[in-house]
Amino acid sequence: MRRVGILTSGGDAPGMNAAIRTAVRTALHFGLEPWAIYRGYHGLIHGELAAMGSRDVSGIIQRGGTILKSARSEEFMTPEGRAKAVDMLRRHEIDSLLVIGGDGSFRGALSLQQEGVNVMGIPATIDNDIACTDYSIGFDTAVNNVMDAVNKIRDTASSHDRVYLVEVMGRHSGYIALYSGLACGADVILIPEVPYDLDAVCEQISQAAELGKTFNIIVVAEGVHAIGDDDGSENPAMQIGRYIEEQAGFETRITILGHIQRGGAPTVRDRLLASRLAYHAVELIFQGKGGKMLGEVDQKVVAFDLEYALAQEKQLNLDYYRLSNILSTI
Ligand code: F6P
Repeated sequence: MRRVGILTSGGDAPGMNAAIRTAVRTALHFGLEPWAIYRGYHGLIHGELAAMGSRDVSGIIQRGGTILKSARSEEFMTPEGRAKAVDMLRRHEIDSLLVIGGDGSFRGALSLQQEGVNVMGIPATIDNDIACTDYSIGFDTAVNNVMDAVNKIRDTASSHDRVYLVEVMGRHSGYIALYSGLACGADVILIPEVPYDLDAVCEQISQAAELGKTFNIIVVAEGVHAIGDDDGSENPAMQIGRYIEEQAGFETRITILGHIQRGGAPTVRDRLLASRLAYHAVELIFQGKGGKMLGEVDQKVVAFDLEYALAQEKQLNLDYYRLSNILSTI
């Protein structure tokens, strides 16, 4: 029986468990033997592997996180670490590997492919910063988590005359901030992809106050550089909040949402995306294919050459940004 290894790597994302469940059961369906690799590439190097059966993935479709656990491995970045990983796969007679993760995980997968391991990647990261797929697994749940939180903040915000800044994750990407900001009716959205002027933000808030607006919600992507001398040691929302207090005289409150965004039961969208991508990935492995990343583009599952996908830049839909500006300044 051919063996397929399955690992999750990088930041966990809601929907990873749905992908693992599908991968295991699809492998069994095609007569492959699924093997769990725990703690991503770190666990691969250190031999944390075990055969899996259908019952091992019962009752996990609704759970956030990843039952396989995840890790960011420094050792795997070294040639010695990768050699150990390849050796471990050979010793366990695993010739194909399904990698569920983000771009760092895919770079790792590509290096294994170059060492002769058959790899297949499916995109799972709340950041949605991977090209060749409209959405990555976990993004939809994360933006819904942000939306729930901002809805609550809005209740308290509407009871006070203050400016509320909510900082969201996304690493270098503004996807989470843009989608959640538009969905929450944020007054201002600050993202790394679009340069902004903090004095113009202060001006917008002041003008809105003159027209009777009593509070504002600003969604800030963690990846923005707030002020010119920003050295990255302080959260941008803190810096921007202080600037608004000092320059425009508004009282501010800051919420840094943090890891709450990554948790919770995956949404329908994430479960369906995870299930579809994992099914097709294992089907391709069964057909002997490798070196690919699967994405969903215009509702179709498409396989891209992994090296090509990694070289592409994910584009943000700036129509959403323009729409948000129109709605918040009228
Ligand atoms: O990549 C997912 C992500 O949640 C980013 O949005 C965030 O910057 C980072 O991971 C946080 O990493 P960690 O969980 O290792 O602190």
